[in-house]
Amino acid sequence: MNRLEPAGRRPGTLWAEDVRPLRFDALDRDVNAETVVIGGGLTGVLTAYFLARSGKRVALVEAGAIGDGETGRSTAHVTAAVDFGYAGIRKMHGEASARAVADSQRAAIDTIEAVVEEEKIDCGYETVDGYLFLSPGTPAETLEDEFSASRTLGFPDVELLPRAPLASFDTGPCLRYPRQAQLHPLLFLRGLVRALVREKVQIFTDTHVSRIHAHEVTASSGRRIRARDIVVATHSPIKNVLFFLKEAAYRSYVIACPVEKNSVPGGLYWDTGSGEGNSYHYVRLARGVSYDHLLVGGEDHKTGQADDYERPYRALEEWTRERFPGAAAPEYRWSGQVIEPVDSLAFIGRSPYHADRLYIATGYSGNGWTYGATAASILRDLILRRKNAWAHLYSPTRKNARATMHFLEENLNVFEKFGADRLKSAKRSSESLAPGEGAVVRKGRSHLAVFRDEAGERHSCSAVCPHLGCLVQWNGAEKTFDCPCHGSRFTPEGRVLTGPATRDLRPIEPAPASK
Ligand code: FES
Repeated sequence: MNRLEPAGRRPGTLWAEDVRPLRFDALDRDVNAETVVIGGGLTGVLTAYFLARSGKRVALVEAGAIGDGETGRSTAHVTAAVDFGYAGIRKMHGEASARAVADSQRAAIDTIEAVVEEEKIDCGYETVDGYLFLSPGTPAETLEDEFSASRTLGFPDVELLPRAPLASFDTGPCLRYPRQAQLHPLLFLRGLVRALVREKVQIFTDTHVSRIHAHEVTASSGRRIRARDIVVATHSPIKNVLFFLKEAAYRSYVIACPVEKNSVPGGLYWDTGSGEGNSYHYVRLARGVSYDHLLVGGEDHKTGQADDYERPYRALEEWTRERFPGAAAPEYRWSGQVIEPVDSLAFIGRSPYHADRLYIATGYSGNGWTYGATAASILRDLILRRKNAWAHLYSPTRKNARATMHFLEENLNVFEKFGADRLKSAKRSSESLAPGEGAVVRKGRSHLAVFRDEAGERHSCSAVCPHLGCLVQWNGAEKTFDCPCHGSRFTPEGRVLTGPATRDLRPIEPAPASK
């Protein structure tokens, strides 16, 4: 394969190139609905769609544009092979639950396919095979255990092969999962939004929700939506004061490298990497007109806990060069947030600490598409008071004794970050910041999150996260302030982007620049 000439790096994600931001009016009046859905990603939009198709009066609110959050940043691997592996799920939750997880994941792919067909959504939906291979350093038994668990738990056609069908990259032994899928996430959402408009769903974008109370959702503007049922589909719940203890936020990185058309066989490929020293990688192809893009992702780390935010991109490029020498330099690159649940399963259903009319869906790890579809089906059934075979399995109120160790590890890390970052003195001064750069700097006993914009103006906020008081960290690659404790993220000017925080960083008047 000849190496393509580098196309030059473009801003944003590959997907955003094809779809204009999906925007509606902001909430500018008080509204009544039967259900209000907060969050315009896959879970929120699909839940609104199912409910509207069932005759409910639905309102949907999104803080930015539809698909602006994690859905538009995903690589849309639609796979029933869960990140934690079926061998691990069976160990933690038992045989019957693991089988139910497999059933729900396969059904989720069918759900997405059925919606694509029903709504005739032109989103590049394609049925492909998925290949799981060993990362260097993972023992060979891992694959054999997963093969045996997958076969037993409901994937009778999974195969153990000597290698994946990639010419330039000998993956070594791998598992082949037939009938997985891929699509263009924003084209899919655009098709669904058209259906929402047809179903008369009231959609409000650029509407930040600041309060959820009883049967009422209040936007920062003070406008309200009253509804009997409230669905919080915000990736990390923005209402549950204690729920963040059950999950941890990670950043995952993606590069999109041009490759000659049809030079890489379509499919989903991912390895068994799981963390530091054994990084996780995933690969898929996105078809284009004159050339394709190879999407390579991974190099995950806990949100707000990196010393060098360029390192994951460098590592992905190196990994790709070694295995796909025909791939050009990345044309796009971006990162997204993944929420890892403490006991390996998503939390979907009634919020554990609130009235029974408040629903959440979170903790999807890297399986956002199948969990998003599963969540939409479960939430629809709970709201309609129908039976759902998986509602109990994914209930946010469940308890799992085996998850306790993991719970302690994740929260010990939070306590470390809470204390250690306060003792470190910030080395930068706000005067030394270049345009477009930010940093956490120390001023007396306070820590400030300071950003110098392209015009040279400084913006200063308190660096104390309004969620529970950890210190945020500057993420130079995304140009955000990220919280290392539970993954809240803020714009350079301190506006909240990602919960669990619901408030902005507290603004502080900058001191006049020294001459
Ligand atoms: Fe919890 Fe920042 S997200 S303290």
